[in-house]
Amino acid sequence: MPINRYIFPVVCELSIEKLVQGGEGFARLPGGRVCFVRGGLPGERCRVELTTGKKDFARGRVVEVLEKSADRAQPKCPLYGKCGGCSLQHLDSAKQVTYLEHVERENFKRIAHEELPAEFIIHQGEPWGYRNRARVVYLGDRDGHCRFGFRKQESNGVVAVESCPVLTPGLNDFLKNAKPPEIFRGLKHVPRDLELNIFDDGTGRVAYYYRGMPEARKRECSVSCVKIGAKQITSGASVFFQSNLSLLPRLVQSVREAVDEGIASGAATDEWLIDLFSGVGFFAALLQDKFRRVTTVERDSLCLEYAKVNLSGMGGVVENVSAPAEEWLVKNVVDVPATLIVDPPRTGLPPEALDAIVKSSVNRVIYVSCDPVTLARDFAKFRAAGFALKRAEGFAFYPQTPHLEMMFVLAR
Ligand SMILES: C[S@@+](CC[C@H](N)C(=O)[O-])C[C@H]1O[C@@H](n2cnc3c(N)ncnc32)[C@H](O)[C@@H]1O
Repeated sequence: MPINRYIFPVVCELSIEKLVQGGEGFARLPGGRVCFVRGGLPGERCRVELTTGKKDFARGRVVEVLEKSADRAQPKCPLYGKCGGCSLQHLDSAKQVTYLEHVERENFKRIAHEELPAEFIIHQGEPWGYRNRARVVYLGDRDGHCRFGFRKQESNGVVAVESCPVLTPGLNDFLKNAKPPEIFRGLKHVPRDLELNIFDDGTGRVAYYYRGMPEARKRECSVSCVKIGAKQITSGASVFFQSNLSLLPRLVQSVREAVDEGIASGAATDEWLIDLFSGVGFFAALLQDKFRRVTTVERDSLCLEYAKVNLSGMGGVVENVSAPAEEWLVKNVVDVPATLIVDPPRTGLPPEALDAIVKSSVNRVIYVSCDPVTLARDFAKFRAAGFALKRAEGFAFYPQTPHLEMMFVLAR
């Protein structure tokens, strides 16, 4: 029967063929229509409740596993399937990287019509207790302590949380012990559903931030200092920062190697480092020692003060710009073979930014991405302008979820 004639919910038996982007299982309904199945693993036969029917595909969720994969695991968290995070807990932690590698190889072939290099690898860290940054919703107080929740899966609702197995011990401690008079000091009224950003600096000290926080409290409570190797990076709960501190040094090492290779090959120079989508100037601060001139460009003006601090006192010319990267690139023609790092949000590079880069004298781009799909899309446009993929690495920054951090090095 055509899927649009089903009366939902409908339950049917399906065979899961593979995992796809987003961590869903891929199956086919009788008649051949594609069905994306939440909670299904390759090789499994499952009873699936169909939840959505579109013209070309359907969506469903596993209600019973009839034939189980050897890689299936018991989800560790009681909120699995309720809260919006960690939707891959039903897959053995030790196997997640193998599956993600397969998904990314397929994605790249489908979107960029090219194979990822055979030597593409995914660096791994701890599967639990790794996440040093989170957003929680305040749900009022109980026995003098704050109650917090996470946003629910596919809805704006909130599910109460007492502890979370992917968060660091420091953040779990905050969830358990934070007291409203301390957290909301200086606030006359705490709005319903107030969201808090919480950030563990890697030592268990937790910074926090919420909209409407009094300025003095913001300076006192939202600022953090993170140690990466010998370097201290000032950041905070009010701005973007990477969320897997224990694996982050591995990404930094790969970026530093890529920079060195570029300079050694002559495709880039040590004359000018341009760090676009720079946040608090993270990559620039860790690479500044190699360059005579450094420019960071970031849209979020809150990051600017942090970037100034992080790039101060090291010599060389430093410019910290608060502007959209695409606007900066159009106004500032890059006419030397500079070293360029881009680390855009999930949406990838704005088309104007990509156009300006390929028209510039930049011959080598280090592209850090948290979305392999937009990365593959942007890669295809770079390739059309003469760039080739020189290096590809993955970083399992988000275990128990289908997300992956990637680094590509492109050169022409
Ligand atoms: C994935 S984060 C990377 C930040 C930084 N590279 C780091 O590692 O901490 C992306 C950053 O891009 C910024 N951003 C988003 N769109 C932008 C745009 N059009 N121009 C400049 N920055 C932008 C966001 O505010 C965010 O700080």
